[in-house]
Amino acid sequence: MMVLEGRGLPMKFGVLEGPGSPGCQVSDYCFTLSEAKEAVEWADVVTFEFEHVDDGVLQEAQQLSKLTPNLKAILPKRDRREERKLLSSLGLPVPRWYPAEDGREALRLLKDQFNNVGVVKSAKGGYDGKGQYFVRGDPSTAPIRESKEPFVVEDLVDFDYEASVVAVRGKDGEFRTYQPSFNVNKAGILIYSFGPTGDEAMTSYARRLAEALDYVGTMAVEFFVKESSVIVNEYAPRVHNTGHHTLDAARTSQFENHLRAIAGLPLGETQVHSAYGTVNILGLSDVPKEVLRYGRLHWYGKMEARKRRKMGHVNVLGEDIREVREKIDRVLSLLYPNGLDL
Ligand SMILES: Nc1ncnc2c1ncn2[C@@H]1O[C@H](COP(=O)(O)OP(=O)(O)O)[C@@H](O)[C@H]1O
Ligand SMILES: [Mg+2]
Repeated sequence: MMVLEGRGLPMKFGVLEGPGSPGCQVSDYCFTLSEAKEAVEWADVVTFEFEHVDDGVLQEAQQLSKLTPNLKAILPKRDRREERKLLSSLGLPVPRWYPAEDGREALRLLKDQFNNVGVVKSAKGGYDGKGQYFVRGDPSTAPIRESKEPFVVEDLVDFDYEASVVAVRGKDGEFRTYQPSFNVNKAGILIYSFGPTGDEAMTSYARRLAEALDYVGTMAVEFFVKESSVIVNEYAPRVHNTGHHTLDAARTSQFENHLRAIAGLPLGETQVHSAYGTVNILGLSDVPKEVLRYGRLHWYGKMEARKRRKMGHVNVLGEDIREVREKIDRVLSLLYPNGLDL
């Protein structure tokens, strides 16, 4: 999507992804993973849509001063313990949490500190809910006891809703945000989001984080909201699923703004021109054409559909949030007539 959104800008795109992949279908050059070194040499700027990539490529790009955003923004995302420490050190409110060296310690902390009601998350490599265990009572069946991997153990937050803010920061430090969205996740994965909503705390937290990381590009911060108190869940050092509505609802999309930022160009306007929603297409290899009555389809062209895999999304627009939510419900019932299999 980033390449498609960059077509109006004076740049060429090389993508490091397997042949036939969504990025390679639309880019000027396609590099295989074994050509990573050549790809980094070829580019003036190296960026990413997914941060769980080989560190070697990132280090190489950083050494040549091409990696944007830089490693400082990515490294805390390699380990949830580091991310939480960073957020706390900046004075951002996070759920009560403890680090655990392995599964046994995680279960002990869960019992001693959380009375066996909490969330145990793999410290490393998790996204879209991977490596997370929600415990409400006896955790003896949780498959983490024998794990030698580190974990974060935290409060199971009884939030009223989840929200996120997508922000962009330019090379000159200019900072802009899209208005926050409401997000609905199930089994750790985003099903749909809608907005706009407004919250000073969210945008100021995002700014504090972006400035502390010397961040350049688009980023997102996810929140839990309970009785108007805002808790930071995590951040994402990249374009974000909850910013996909900007393709249709904003003057400049999060993708174009990311490209503008990393290329040192002026940022584009971030206002939305209507209420909006995004419905994720999860695990489907095809879409009922009727969804086009309600919104705009963005199909990623991934080679194979798998359970929970994000295959595309539908953006809907409306006069107000009520209209948007009606359209979201219609799209959901067309996509998942028998409910969502997660
Ligand atoms: N501590 C928590 N309390 C309640 N729900 C949580 C908690 N942590 C995660 N979740 C739920 O799981 C989703 C995914 O977790 P998150 O920490 O954002 O990891 P990921 O990196 O997989 O997105 C969240 O958006 C939320 O719905
Ligand atoms: Mg998340």
